[in-house]
Amino acid sequence: MFGKLSKRSNVPQFHAMGVLAEANRQAALGRDILHLEVGEPDARAPARVRDAARAAIAAGRTGYTEALGLPELRRAIATHYQDFYGVDVEPERIIVTTGASGAFILVFLALFDPGARVALASPGYPAYRSILAALGIEVVTIPGAHDSAYQPVVDLLEPVAADLDGVILASPANPTGSVMPEPELIRLVAFCRERNIRLVADEIYHGIAYEAACPTVLGLDGEAVVVNSFSKYFAMTGWRLGWVAGPPELIEAAERLAMNFFLCAPTVAQVGACEVFGCYAELDAHVERYRANRDVLLAGLLKSGFRKVAAADGAFYLYVDVSDFADDSFEFARQLLQDEGLAVAPGVDFDRERGHRFVRMSYSGAPETIRETVNRLGNWTLR
Ligand SMILES: Cc1ncc(COP(=O)(O)O)c(C=O)c1O
Repeated sequence: MFGKLSKRSNVPQFHAMGVLAEANRQAALGRDILHLEVGEPDARAPARVRDAARAAIAAGRTGYTEALGLPELRRAIATHYQDFYGVDVEPERIIVTTGASGAFILVFLALFDPGARVALASPGYPAYRSILAALGIEVVTIPGAHDSAYQPVVDLLEPVAADLDGVILASPANPTGSVMPEPELIRLVAFCRERNIRLVADEIYHGIAYEAACPTVLGLDGEAVVVNSFSKYFAMTGWRLGWVAGPPELIEAAERLAMNFFLCAPTVAQVGACEVFGCYAELDAHVERYRANRDVLLAGLLKSGFRKVAAADGAFYLYVDVSDFADDSFEFARQLLQDEGLAVAPGVDFDRERGHRFVRMSYSGAPETIRETVNRLGNWTLR
């Protein structure tokens, strides 16, 4: 018997990974499984990135980098802000991290003490809650509303704002794919500034937006803290690379923490990532594929009787209310995998209270996968 573990390590597991494990087990037995449970692009990093990484390995560029990241990568990210958003962000205001995941740890540690209160909308990406809880920070859940696209809009924040230290925003969001409209974003930024509430914007799905481009919070507020990543738009999940952009004081604190916690982000990945900003056309082509997939899946869902789907203007997920078909989305996911070989993520990962009514479907796969998904969903509802 190993003995006692810390209370803080007792964060919930991610049920989507359980579905993935079962789907893989069935695939190994020869079943034809379609994966809509995982949250990553099926596209691979551009060839230029992979070539640069290969060359870095061949040249032995495999030691540590500065804790802040390779200077050329920080410069490339700064140029990206100019090219992509028309916003000036000096390289000194950027630290390269081990994915957005590593960025959250640095940012939450740098901004909040134990006992601080940080609000986030539910449904939402589960790691925010788990990381904050493990750090002893109190999570204030804002139950998202369908009408405000499940976003933490000012009207929902106002009643709990009195002793709030921070708000986390993800737009486009996971699991809904919803985008906070720009006027609402401007309201949120002003609201947080007036009350000295730290706004942390997770902009990881920027670049994957179907209606209008998403403005960076950095262009609206010089004090804002932004987390971003090479995982989604840039299709580099396994390279484990992201960044934080924020005020110099925050970057200094994050650097000190990074030196102690991580030393640096992966070096070969950083060398590769320098090339990715020359690949917008290729990356945008992926986004066009996601858009077509979204339209096919949404139409198929509606045709099969799934009528309540959150408005999805970005990312590559649909968050679907399955309560007309099952009481428990976990059971729904199990049954769909069993009957049709379709793997989806149960909503309880994203919303502990109401998630039993929802599943998340990721449409980042090949168009054939999405078309076949629609066929199988149709078959399933006719059973
Ligand atoms: C909203 C959101 N933020 C952050 C992450 C973490 O991304 P990474 O650590 O790969 O950069 C994810 C991954 O799915 C996500 O959906």
